[in-house]
Amino acid sequence: MSKEVSLEKIVSLAKRRGFIFPGSEVYGGLSGTWDYGPLGVLLKQKLIDLWKDYFVYQRSDMLMVDSAILMNSKVWQASGHTETFTDPLVECQNCHNRFRADKIDLSTCPHCSKKNTFGVAKNFNLMFQTLIGPNSNEDQVLEIDKKALLNLINQQSGKVLKFKLNNFTVQANSNLVYLRPETAQGIFTNFKNIIDSIYPDLPFGLAQHGKAFRNEISPRDFVFRSREFEQLEIEYFIQANDWQKYFDQWINLIQDWYQLIGLKKESIHLLEVSGDDLAHYSKRTIDFEYDFPIGRQELSGLAYRTNFDLTNIANFSNKNVDYRDKKTNEVFIPHVIEPSFGIERMIMAVITEAYTEEIMEDQSTRVVLKLSKQLAPIKVVVSPLLKNNQLLVDKALDLFNSLKKALKFVLYDDNGNIGKRYRRADEIGTPYCVTVDFQSLEDQTVTVRDRDTTNQERVDINNLIAYLN
Ligand code: GAP
Repeated sequence: MSKEVSLEKIVSLAKRRGFIFPGSEVYGGLSGTWDYGPLGVLLKQKLIDLWKDYFVYQRSDMLMVDSAILMNSKVWQASGHTETFTDPLVECQNCHNRFRADKIDLSTCPHCSKKNTFGVAKNFNLMFQTLIGPNSNEDQVLEIDKKALLNLINQQSGKVLKFKLNNFTVQANSNLVYLRPETAQGIFTNFKNIIDSIYPDLPFGLAQHGKAFRNEISPRDFVFRSREFEQLEIEYFIQANDWQKYFDQWINLIQDWYQLIGLKKESIHLLEVSGDDLAHYSKRTIDFEYDFPIGRQELSGLAYRTNFDLTNIANFSNKNVDYRDKKTNEVFIPHVIEPSFGIERMIMAVITEAYTEEIMEDQSTRVVLKLSKQLAPIKVVVSPLLKNNQLLVDKALDLFNSLKKALKFVLYDDNGNIGKRYRRADEIGTPYCVTVDFQSLEDQTVTVRDRDTTNQERVDINNLIAYLN
């Protein structure tokens, strides 16, 4: 069952309140890119911090790496991405718009509505390409055969080469690199470094958070399918025989994680991926799906990648990536379990789950983001009851300054009346609103209003930080 909240409401709230904006909007946008505003930055950062805390810092078997986005092209040859990281692309012969063949009804063009205009689907590689190093003045024209061409491309890194081949001039970019389509390869390529420098006991995990890029054929559904996004990935290195045991452990850990960030158990569904849908590297994959406003869709994945990646690295690099067991001295290439999360989809799920509309006594609608207190971008809003009373304003500002130092995520708001301030705070998920009123001037107490219950309590200013924590 889909969530009742529509995607439009979420996109509108995200923009109106400074969470997420369309990328390059001032120039008409750039499809598949999104910018985070002040509240979006805080929500994203808190989610990332919580993820690191839960999956890395609280455990003794996890370490982090932070690898470069640009990597040697051999990484993607070895991983199979240059060959197989593709989506099926079709083009309408009438309007020439292009679509992902597996996402549309191929009998009718979704753009021009003409029937039977699609030919055979082509494999479209999703990796973004760019050129590394200065190249404009370094062109060379050479006469060579095909084998020599490949050798030269491998040797002449950093140059654009021009060749005469069968009377055609071929320009080959030996300086071609890809923007990484997954953070995982930066973990695998550092496996040897970690063994040589740290040599952790097996099983151990390496985690990485960072940008990933995919030239999606049809980016859509807000941040759900973006061309630039962030992944949080773990490669958990194990003995081959143990894979089922650890796979099951990770299923439970991931389910607990989703509850920790406030997603209801019944909104998460496990999908066993089978047959052609399995990625080229995976022997078993479970997709964790969520009931998004756009329907039930993949939120994150869990894959058993065997020793596919490390073995390929060994073969392509001629380097030894063996692990020597500290107790038995057995030497082998470890297998991996890979939990892989996308921050954009988690943010979308967390906002969907938290978005609530309540009809009030006066028939107005109260929009509340019931975010968990750990994720709410702003923890407290401080206000004077009236903004034209200097005594109230001074006291509220004093209180704001001390709360800001202690709790960091605190806002001062004196716009409009107190009711409007509460509504604004609710809409961004602020758990508490603190109001300085005339009684505060006399007895050093303030009202604290709770986002979810809307109940108000008087709290002594001296106990306020403990109360809010
Ligand atoms: N290393 C494995 C891997 O990358 P994936 O299923 O292709 O697996 C993992 O991606 C996660 O990354 C997805 O579950 C999703 O959360 C996120 N993701 C993938 N493509 C995305 C896109 N175009 N936009 C936003 N998030 C994406």
